[in-house]
Parts: sequence; C-alpha cells; structure tokens
Amino acid sequence: MRKVTIKASADVALVKYWGKKDEKLRLPENGSLSMKLEGIETTTTVEFREGLAKDDVKIDGEFKNNEVRRVIKHLDRVRDLARFNLKAKVVSVNNFPKATGLSSSGSGFAALTMAASRAAGLDLDEKDLSILARLGSGSACRCVCGGFVEWLNGDSSKTSYAKTILSKKHWDIRDVVVVVESKRKSVSSTEGHNYSGTSLLYKERQKRIEKKIKKVKLAIREKEFGKLGKLVEAEALEFHSVLLTSDPPLLAWYPGTVQVMHEVLKMREEGVEAYFTISTGFNVHVLTLPIFEERVKKRIKRLALVEDVLLAKVGGKPEEIEKHLY
Ligand code: PMV
Repeated sequence: MRKVTIKASADVALVKYWGKKDEKLRLPENGSLSMKLEGIETTTTVEFREGLAKDDVKIDGEFKNNEVRRVIKHLDRVRDLARFNLKAKVVSVNNFPKATGLSSSGSGFAALTMAASRAAGLDLDEKDLSILARLGSGSACRCVCGGFVEWLNGDSSKTSYAKTILSKKHWDIRDVVVVVESKRKSVSSTEGHNYSGTSLLYKERQKRIEKKIKKVKLAIREKEFGKLGKLVEAEALEFHSVLLTSDPPLLAWYPGTVQVMHEVLKMREEGVEAYFTISTGFNVHVLTLPIFEERVKKRIKRLALVEDVLLAKVGGKPEEIEKHLY
C-alpha cells in the first residue's frame, strides 16, 4: 500500500470552542473561528503494512501510551471506513512544543487523518476529512482546512464540520507565537471541556457567542485589523474568565504569559498594532501586521520569562509532501 506523508499547520482560535454537547462525537457547544498558521506544523507519515502484528506509532521520537492509544483509535476509524484490518507504521513530528496551548492536537490529528485516509486508499473531500478529524481532536476538524476557518455549530456528526471561509491569500496577518514554557501543560483541553458548564459565566458567554462570531467574520472580511484584534483579545480574556471560574478552576497562565500580555498592551500604547490571544495553555499568540512583526518579535524576545519566539503567517490547507519520515 502507498506510504503517505502530510504536513498540516496548527491554527489559532479567534473565537474559541469550549464545552461539548456530545463528548464521544466531540460535538462542541458552540461554533468557532480560527486562522491556520504556516510555520507551526505537524508532519506525519503513515503506511499500512502486511505482516505488522500491531500499530507502531512514534510521536516526536517517543512512544507515549496515552498518545499512542488515541492515535490507534483514530487508525481504527480509518480501517473501518476502508474495510481492512492492516496495522500501520506512523511517525509524526512537530516543529513546535506540543501540549502547551498551541493546538498540536489540531495539526496532529489533521495530518494523521489525511495521511492515514490516503494511505488506506480513501478519497475524502474536505467536509468528510473534517468530520473524521473531529473524532480524533475537536480543533483538528478546522486544521484540515486552510486560511480563515469556521467550524459550524452542527447538532450531529454529519453537520459538525469546518470549512474554509477565506483563503490565506485574503489577508496577510502575522502571529508572533511566544513560548514561555515548552513542557506540557497539566490539564488537557479534552479534560477541561468537561468543566465548562460549572462556570457561572458560561451561560452568558454562550448566549452571545453567535453574535461575536458574526462580528469577527465581518472584521476579517473587511480586513479591519484594529476591530479584529480588539474582539479576539476580549474573547481570550472572556474565555480565560470561564476557565478561572470553573470547578475545578483552571489557571492556565504562567508568570511569563502575563509578562507577554503586559508587553502587548504597552506596545499598543506606543502605536504598534498587536493583540494577544491564549488557548488552554500558557503560551501566547500575538497577532500583528507584517509591518510590525519584526518590532514585536524583538520586544518580546527581550522579556526575561520568554523561552522562544516562533513566527507564523496565515497558513493553507495540509499538503502531501514527497519527503517521508521513514
Ligand atoms: O480541540 P481541543 O479539544 O484540543 O480543544 C481546543 C480548545 C481551545 O483551543 C481552547 C479552543 C479552540 O477552539 O481551539
């Protein structure tokens, strides 16, 4: 069978999904919007082979039990669709620290879904790939798309998928991705979703989220960076207010996270158009325009609690590449 390698970029959620109406199917309580990130990527090679007694899965050079189990479960979904039972060899690498709030499960399961389905001989379109990827990791359903992406708020597995709303050519936005810590977070988002409803703020958030999605989409369509930045930053703070007021509370930020947030506010006072957003981790996305990118990078790099700075721009759809990992 064919050996397939896919490179998929992660995304940054501009309006975040939090809470699930169906845990098993990973159906979110709300729709969400994101931007793909060229430069922040997972590459995965998959080959189904005769004679393999079990799946052989290596991620970033390691064989971690819980990660491997989740990958094998996903391979089983592909095998069910392809109606065969061959085991696979899977090698996957990330060019950014995983499980630190930078959507590595999104890019990881998008790359795995595409590589495994093609290696199994399946020819799935974007919608079916998105539905399949969602079963592995929620945000992965957005990562099979490109550019600016919307995950529709469907009520069933068939209607809960993501689509590209505008391609990466629409607008050149930059994301200065700030790593304040590269070791994995203690609470995964998969677990965190379960506590969402315990926050007294959650219901109010949900009431307003459709309207917010419309506003953010309009700011993207009309390329109004100031409007977009303000909405996205306020959304991140609202989202973290839900995390902080949940039971158990989830304090995702580290001291370095807060240092970066303050620096962004300071830069804005000086006329630099930069806005932060943070997912369920401590690392920070600083969204800016190309003219400010270098300045933002330099300022952030100087901060005492910053480990590394990665540069990303709006990314496209996952791509099949010739260079296999094994
Ligand atoms: O896809 P998951 O289960 O890793 O959850 C992602 C949750 C957020 O990153 C906080 C929001 C989002 O929409 O990506």
